[in-house]
Amino acid sequence: MSEKFTSVHYHSYLELDKLLNAQNLRSAALEKVPAHDEMLFIIMHQVYELWFKQIIHEIKSIAVMFEGDLMDEREISTAVARLERIIEIQKLLIEQINVMETMTAMDFLDFRQYLFPASGFQSLQFRIVENMLGLKEEQRLTYNSMPYDVVFSGKQKEILKESMDNKSLLTLVIDWLDRTPFLEFDKFNFLESYKKAVESMVQKEKDAINASDILSEETKKQRLTMVGDTSTYFMAVFDPAKFEEMRERGEVKFSYKAMLAALFIFLYRDEPILQQPYRFLSRLMDIEEMLTLWRNRHAQMVLRMIGRKTGTGGSSGHQYLKATAQQHQIFTDLYQVATLLIPRSDLPTLPEDLRKHLSFHFSSK
Ligand code: HEM
Repeated sequence: MSEKFTSVHYHSYLELDKLLNAQNLRSAALEKVPAHDEMLFIIMHQVYELWFKQIIHEIKSIAVMFEGDLMDEREISTAVARLERIIEIQKLLIEQINVMETMTAMDFLDFRQYLFPASGFQSLQFRIVENMLGLKEEQRLTYNSMPYDVVFSGKQKEILKESMDNKSLLTLVIDWLDRTPFLEFDKFNFLESYKKAVESMVQKEKDAINASDILSEETKKQRLTMVGDTSTYFMAVFDPAKFEEMRERGEVKFSYKAMLAALFIFLYRDEPILQQPYRFLSRLMDIEEMLTLWRNRHAQMVLRMIGRKTGTGGSSGHQYLKATAQQHQIFTDLYQVATLLIPRSDLPTLPEDLRKHLSFHFSSK
């Protein structure tokens, strides 16, 4: 039998000697009386780190697919499947907090004093995940005015820097959207047709408010201003210069073309060729949502465990964590697209020629 096919044992294959001997309780070492729940605390974190490793593995493989200039339809399906795997893992990560919460605040206090200054702040893999997805350093909340990588050693800093220097999934997706064809096709100009449809939709909304015999004059005025506000946001999408200003102010991350392409995909997602890109963008939104849910869930658990105490890593604890849920969002531009959606009934009809290009073709030749 060739060397390749020598038998392997479950225990050695999974390196269980290493894995199962990696739970060293500080309370046992320092106090000789192990705190019962420290075992749970260590195992919980180790399990998370293993899942982070798997998530990094998946994001890396998706990034490779998007690096080239041309993207094959089959690759988008594979990318979608891998994002779906990440989402299932994220659901587990949120669910596992329930297990952590079987430890009470008093149980935690039995060993918390031995943990300083260790903290989730020092999870290199968590930071890599954030960087690979596209969280920028300038967007991060800082504590004690320190850069976020101050807690890492030289080698770890290098690894972290590499994850910042490589193109993030956000950047790769923007590049990919930038290359989307069909926004102008023959005599069809997507932006022009869309603009007319929006004007008609906004007018209909205004007419409905004006015609209402239930709303007071005061409420009508307020509602009309609100419709006006929405159309102001629409205006930025109609005007590349305005959009660019928003980008410079950091209010949007997508390029103008990428935003239009994402909008086109969302509006015409039923066209066969756009179905996978639509699923891909939707799964990115799911990943963002899951990460935000985890951040909120973790912050809530922290409140229950340590109240308003500062964290072992030196942040304000709950307050800091709660703020990251809002501040550290990455794919926010995809949510902006929802603002720009219009009802199917107002959607401009695509020219027949373009629809053919957006369909799958079968040829006997
Ligand atoms: C008793 C349980 C836990 C408590 C009381 C707790 C507390 C905290 C606190 C207070 C912070 C803010 C940083 C600091 O000042 O230390 C933090 C950050 C963090 N924790 Fe936890 N944590 C717990 C469990 C977990 C678990 C199971 C994980 C899983 C890996 C985790 C992952 C993280 C991460 C990644 C951060 C950094 C978050 C960010 O900066 O956005 N924590 N934790």
